[in-house]
Amino acid sequence: MSNKTVIVTGAAKGIGLAIACGFAARGYNIALNYRSDNGTQCAALEACRAAAKDGAEVELFRADVSKADECKAMVEAVIARFGGIWALVNNAGITRDGLLMRMSEEQFDEVIACNLKSVYNMSKAVTPVMTKARAGRIISITSVVGIYGNAGQTNYAASKAAIIGFTKSLAKEIGSRGITVNCIAPGFIETDMTDALGEDAKKALYDRIALRRIGKPEDIANAAAFLASEDASYITAQTLSVDGAISL
Ligand SMILES: NC(=O)c1ccc[n+]([C@@H]2O[C@H](COP(=O)([O-])OP(=O)(O)OC[C@H]3O[C@@H](n4cnc5c(N)ncnc54)[C@H](O)[C@@H]3O)[C@@H](O)[C@H]2O)c1
Repeated sequence: MSNKTVIVTGAAKGIGLAIACGFAARGYNIALNYRSDNGTQCAALEACRAAAKDGAEVELFRADVSKADECKAMVEAVIARFGGIWALVNNAGITRDGLLMRMSEEQFDEVIACNLKSVYNMSKAVTPVMTKARAGRIISITSVVGIYGNAGQTNYAASKAAIIGFTKSLAKEIGSRGITVNCIAPGFIETDMTDALGEDAKKALYDRIALRRIGKPEDIANAAAFLASEDASYITAQTLSVDGAISL
């Protein structure tokens, strides 16, 4: 198998889809993960195949990444299809915002399971494969909110801050096997997730961006492609902020 393979979780839309398309355009095979059969995955597959460089192959893999058994089965299916895994991009994430006083236990647990437990599930499933190959890249999408905090997002901020600690620790565990582990911390990026914000909240965020523009999913995709490349082989345990210098 000549092309390297990248798994991108939560890639049916938004940042995940842009990351998958960015890798496909650079010639990587893509395992495009999605959670529900609601049709968006078909459009994503089409877009990613259209973006793919000659020879790069793209396939859909269904799994809810908050569930360990589904992650394990997906990784086995990806290996059966592509023969190996060069990089994992942990992108899937959700918000269930609310002030702590009103936040239910369910809201808290759901966000931790989807945003954080998924990183454990997927990293654990791919690590034996990468260790055997003595090469690989694990890249997780955290958030500036995990660094600065944000009122109304204790659950989300906790999940994203924990990803940074997880990344630093895993990088130290498996660095000797030639595997790098890094995070990307996006700022305010235009997707369905931020579309849900009110106009006032959007304006307040925009005013804090030094580059005076809202980020595009492709800005994150370019950073992910860099971290997965040979050019980034001496970078590990880092969090790369891609946020136009936003200050929360
Ligand atoms: N948009 C931003 O401004 C922004 C900023 C910082 C960080 N992020 C992070 O970037 C990532 C992508 O966000 P987005 O803005 O593209 O969001 P989005 O809501 O547009 O897309 C998220 C994707 O993740 C998938 N997903 C959610 N739970 C899943 C699960 N359990 N299993 C499999 N797939 C699942 C969804 O189906 C969806 O396709 C998230 O981790 C988010 O926290 C986004």
